Amino acid sequence: MQKLFNKFKNRNEPRTATIQPGGESFEVPKNRTLLQAANDKGIDFPQHCTVGTCGSCRCKLLEGEVRPLRDFSYTLTRAEISDGYILACQSMLKGDVVVELESRGELATQPAERFTANITSTGMLTHDIMEVSVQLDRPLTYTAGQFADLLINNGLEGFARHRSYSFSCAPEVGGSSDLSFHIRRVSGGSYTEWLFEKDRTGETLELHGPNGSFWLRADDAPILCIAGGSGMAPIKAILEEAAAHHIKRPVTYLFGARAQRDLYCLEEMQALAKQCPTTLQFIPILSEEPEGSSWTGKRGLVTEYINPAAVGFDLKGCHTYLCGPPVMIDAALEVLECNQVPTDHIHYDKFLDSRQLEIES
Ligand code: FES
Repeated sequence: MQKLFNKFKNRNEPRTATIQPGGESFEVPKNRTLLQAANDKGIDFPQHCTVGTCGSCRCKLLEGEVRPLRDFSYTLTRAEISDGYILACQSMLKGDVVVELESRGELATQPAERFTANITSTGMLTHDIMEVSVQLDRPLTYTAGQFADLLINNGLEGFARHRSYSFSCAPEVGGSSDLSFHIRRVSGGSYTEWLFEKDRTGETLELHGPNGSFWLRADDAPILCIAGGSGMAPIKAILEEAAAHHIKRPVTYLFGARAQRDLYCLEEMQALAKQCPTTLQFIPILSEEPEGSSWTGKRGLVTEYINPAAVGFDLKGCHTYLCGPPVMIDAALEVLECNQVPTDHIHYDKFLDSRQLEIES
């Protein structure tokens, strides 16, 4: 009886989670996920979707056991799961745990804060991607690759007011007040429909950031960047920052788009390649460009170009940075896994479109 009581008591007792490096410990009540408990305690933990789809809260389980609310394999690769990675937003603790956050200790990020953002200009980059520039009420310090949440305060009931977008430019020293974002129109998504409906210059948004742990890790290894659509934004910011710091690592950037009308930032990429002539190779790849068109570049899926001959270096030793829609990231992760790229060297930011978020929220 006592044994049963102890078991029952044990089940209901809060668990303890410890985060490495740093050894910060906190209680996790039995009805809270690891991420919720970390947020309750004000602990800085990378996150984005909070529903198990983006992979931002990925961490390595060093000790203990968790119960997944949603199968991790929906988001994590087989290699990540067998290496012990879990999603904090989908993890209920079975007992005390120790987890490792790879972003910790590499860079001290600014805690997210709220800012007032005034839209200073908008301009179409492609037929469905808009650049939105804002000016903040004070400078924001972030790292290239991170994102911010943008909130629209239009007073409409049932309106999807909040979306996350990556900073599209490298930050300025001392913080940036002028920021820009690449926002893709999603048909039926109330947030982007509002934004694209008419010129929103002069409107005020609320910005919460910086967020995320997608940034360039210090190392000498070659870098493979892979992006699709508006996933261009954080990769562009990362490459701009790398160029500003005169990083000499070989970089190959595979950018996937459907057709020529979906390509953008080509001049910026060419300028960056000129700035780093021996290190940056930018390869746009079109998957649905009509045969016989004026396009003379690469055709197919970006995944067809994830091989040593196309990227120009050995994949096993490279570090990879991916940003784009889940279908592209998942396919690329499989190819990287087949090419034995170590899980620890793969960093990605999977974004969901607003309609998907509306369904999931
Ligand atoms: S925050 Fe956990 S998967 Fe997105």
